[in-house]
Amino acid sequence: MPLILETIVTTVSAHGALHLVPFGLIRDGEDFWVAPFRPSPTIANLEAVPFFAAAAPADVRVIAGCVTGRRDWPTAASRTIPVPRLADAYGHMELQVVEVRDDPVRPRFRGRVVHDEAHRPFLGHNRAVNAVLEAAILSTRLHRLNAETVLAELHHHRIAVEKTAGPAEREAWNWIAAKVVAALPQAAAASLAVDGA
Ligand SMILES: Cc1cc2nc3c(=O)[nH]c(=O)nc-3n(C[C@H](O)[C@H](O)[C@H](O)COP(=O)(O)O)c2cc1C
Repeated sequence: MPLILETIVTTVSAHGALHLVPFGLIRDGEDFWVAPFRPSPTIANLEAVPFFAAAAPADVRVIAGCVTGRRDWPTAASRTIPVPRLADAYGHMELQVVEVRDDPVRPRFRGRVVHDEAHRPFLGHNRAVNAVLEAAILSTRLHRLNAETVLAELHHHRIAVEKTAGPAEREAWNWIAAKVVAALPQAAAASLAVDGA
């Protein structure tokens, strides 16, 4: 399996409307594939404007927010492509689409890095951020996964949030917990959420 980088991908439509969403970029040599499941505005955007920015968010609420209906995060102009990037990022890449592999389920767009840039120092890993990331991905697959398995995994990840989260990570976790509780009747709200957000 190739390395996958979880990033915030931005694209724009033919009319210039911004779309911001978390995507796992699949590394292929020095290129990165973005592979959106249909239907996704990202597909039409990349067909119309073949560039995307991919950022490492400095606040995990951006990832949790995007999968819980909170997509309005500040962006900044990119250096070399006509697509803005997430503003609050450790760093970002600017990519040009150089190949498209069409598919009825999940087309793929090969992005070539035309520019990359660091914005702030990365000072250490945090387990709660990783836990929120895993929970965010699980929350986009609730319709495809077994509910008991999802809940067992979430309760495992919740331990890291309880032990190592700051206020932003707690808030991000609770956004996802609320989404899961709404979707899965068997999830008990009280035991999935954490205090202090
Ligand atoms: C960390 C992370 C990585 C994701 N990677 C992908 C991906 O590679 N492909 C995909 O279709 N969805 C992926 N998703 C789910 C999408 O972000 C989510 O389904 C989103 O709502 C799709 O938005 P769109 O349909 O507006 O483009 C990912 C979610 C998270 C949290």
